[in-house]
Amino acid sequence: MKRAFRILVIAIVAASLYSLTPVALLYLRKHVRQPTNSETVEKLKSNKGGYFGFIVFGDNHAGFIFDDSAFLKLIRNMNREDRFKKLPIDFVANMGDVTFSKGLESDYITYDKLRSMIKWPVISAMGNHDYQKGGWRNFNKYIGSSEFSFVDRNSYFIVLDNKITDISPEQFLWLESELIKALAYKHKFIFMHKSPISSYQQSWFRPELSSWSYKTMKLCQKYGVDIVFAGHEHMFRDNVFGGVRYLTSGGGGMLTQIPESDGGFLHYIVVRVYGDYVDYEVRKIFPPVWEFVTYYMWKEAFYYLKGVFFKDGFLF
Ligand SMILES: [Fe+2]
Repeated sequence: MKRAFRILVIAIVAASLYSLTPVALLYLRKHVRQPTNSETVEKLKSNKGGYFGFIVFGDNHAGFIFDDSAFLKLIRNMNREDRFKKLPIDFVANMGDVTFSKGLESDYITYDKLRSMIKWPVISAMGNHDYQKGGWRNFNKYIGSSEFSFVDRNSYFIVLDNKITDISPEQFLWLESELIKALAYKHKFIFMHKSPISSYQQSWFRPELSSWSYKTMKLCQKYGVDIVFAGHEHMFRDNVFGGVRYLTSGGGGMLTQIPESDGGFLHYIVVRVYGDYVDYEVRKIFPPVWEFVTYYMWKEAFYYLKGVFFKDGFLF
């Protein structure tokens, strides 16, 4: 019995160490400059036909070993998305918080190393962590513009910069002018860091009572936006309000604090555009073994016990 236990412990330690190799190799990798957002969208212009896919994730928070290790596992899975050769994947979009906490240059360099491993062009929105303490300068240097629109096949995409949560009157004028242009296209998608509505009752994020939230949602409804993608909350959530789908996808690498049963898991989203139709699938990713035994296992054990002795859910 004692021997079996010892073998089990050795096996877990060995698997944990092995699961650390990709992140160790990442840090040894040489930094190569990556395309800016404008260079990336330039490549999409020539795509033709109304059948395609794209991948969305958020909050990889590069520069912290737990996040980078998990994000590498997401990348490995993303890179296999075209294995059935059904639809071409055109690009991957990151909903922001590309860096760990204060938009440090070293974190942007790690992010470049990470995104260089993704098979498809990557578009990145700006998150509050990328902007902090002058980090926006590094965002401009490594990623470029934080607010722009682009066309890919039959769809119009708007990337909105709301890292400080609020949306200014000038941004609303720009957004509406973009939505008017988007009317000529079959589908309209918005990428932003913070969703105008948090669909998780127990979240710390409460945008719903602000005027920017109401105005954004009314505009999306008026112009028939298909999906608004956001990150910020480190979880997956899907809700429809006013005929518009709001997807929160903030499980791109950052340690999720929310219970798995409420959407607190690592994941990315694959969106498929079939001419007139749009749908999506969520790819839930099991954490690297070392991260499971040091964090995720204990997080779920904590919520399990909390459910037994107190109540289910995140905080209250
Ligand atoms: Fe975040």
